[in-house]
This record gives sequence, structure tokens and C-alpha cells, in this order.
Amino acid sequence: MTQDELKTLVGQAALQYVTPGHIVGVGTGSTVNKFIDALASMKDQIPGAVSSSEASTARLKALGIPVFAANDVAELSVYIDGADEIDAQGHMIKGGGAALTREKIVAAQSRQFVCIADESKMVKALGAFPLPVEVIPMAAARLTRQFEVLGGRVHLRTKDGLPLVTDNGQHILDVTGLQIADPLAFESEVNQWPGIVTVGVFAHQKASVCLLGTSSGVKTLTF
Ligand code: 5RP
Repeated sequence: MTQDELKTLVGQAALQYVTPGHIVGVGTGSTVNKFIDALASMKDQIPGAVSSSEASTARLKALGIPVFAANDVAELSVYIDGADEIDAQGHMIKGGGAALTREKIVAAQSRQFVCIADESKMVKALGAFPLPVEVIPMAAARLTRQFEVLGGRVHLRTKDGLPLVTDNGQHILDVTGLQIADPLAFESEVNQWPGIVTVGVFAHQKASVCLLGTSSGVKTLTF
């Protein structure tokens, strides 16, 4: 199966976690796009979704699925999202689509995080994928130096030759060369650096379930 077919498979498999009558939390990315397309078949059974990006909101609305503001929903039973990397404990690197801040917010208001991913995303240790970090632009140079002290190499993410601007009006640093041996401690530490909006390690908001697309079908991992 191609990677695209594996994404379709897990996107469809995630429907089993959507409870009729409940609002669902929706992530961002090409795997989630498959889930959103599949969710259209259940749109008459759910009130709608809380979305983690302008891109997912547009896709949901185009399919006739109402989108609620996160502030108007107290708690979600489930949040469904992809990942750039996931380890055997359910810790993830996320933010390849620049939506990490809203993703972490919606994940935090959800009882269960269901990660949908193809098997290429499963890793022994986090850190091979460049770590996305959303930052306040005026802190970018100092944060770059802080990551360099940890052995990281930092690239400001660009789009059309200009710094990429997130849905929140901020910038993204992509950091390579980090050893993230203890994701929980790493996330806690970096979160305290002034100017960090969100670090793309999801350890405090780790997955509770991963639907992993493999050549022999969907494997369900629980953490
Ligand atoms: C977006 C994300 C995505 O979940 C992550 O980048 C995986 O994307 P894809 O499903 O396209 O591989 O964190 O910010």
C-alpha cells in the first residue's frame, strides 16, 4: 500500500472513536484530511467539530460539518490528529503543518487523544524529525541560541521566501540535532523559555491510542 492509502485507512478507522451526539476534536494535516473526508459520512450524527487550524476548519465547513469555537465547548470526548513522530509510549512530535499550538489546546480539552499515522511515523526515540517550535518573533534569535546550547541547529520556517506566519500570527523554528531522551522533561523545560508559544513535543498531551497504518492493516496501540 502507498503512504496515501495507509493514511486513508487510518482516517477511516478513526470513525469508530467518534461518538454520535458528541462534538469531535479535529487535528490538522494530510492524514487528518482523510479523517475529515470520512467524517462527512457521520455529519448527521454529530453536532460538529472543534478544529485545530484554519485549514481544517475550511475543509470541515466545505463538507457541511459545523465548527465550534474551542471556548464554547467545555470538554471533548475525543481528539483525532496525526503526528510527525510517535514513540512506543505515545509521546509525539507534531507541528509539521504549523498548527501545533491550536493542536495542543484542543488536545488538552479532550479526554482521549487518538493519533492516526502511517507506520513511517513510529520511532524508537523522538528527534529525527525537525522539532517545530512556535515562537514570538522578537524572541527568535535568543531562542535559537538556547537551542544551540542543547546541540540543536535552528531554521526559521519560510513560505514564499518570507517567514511563515502561523494562524496565531507567530513564527516557527525547526530544530534538528536534538536528543529528546525524556520527552516529558524536555517539554516542561522548553515551555519555560520566554518567547516560546508552543514546543512541538506532545508528552503532557500524549496519545492515548494510536491507529497505525501498516501493510498488514491498522494496528491499534494503546498507551
Ligand atoms: C500539523 C501536524 C500534523 O499532525 C503532522 O504534521 C502530520 O501531518 P501529516 O498527516 O500530513 O503527515 O502536527 O501541525
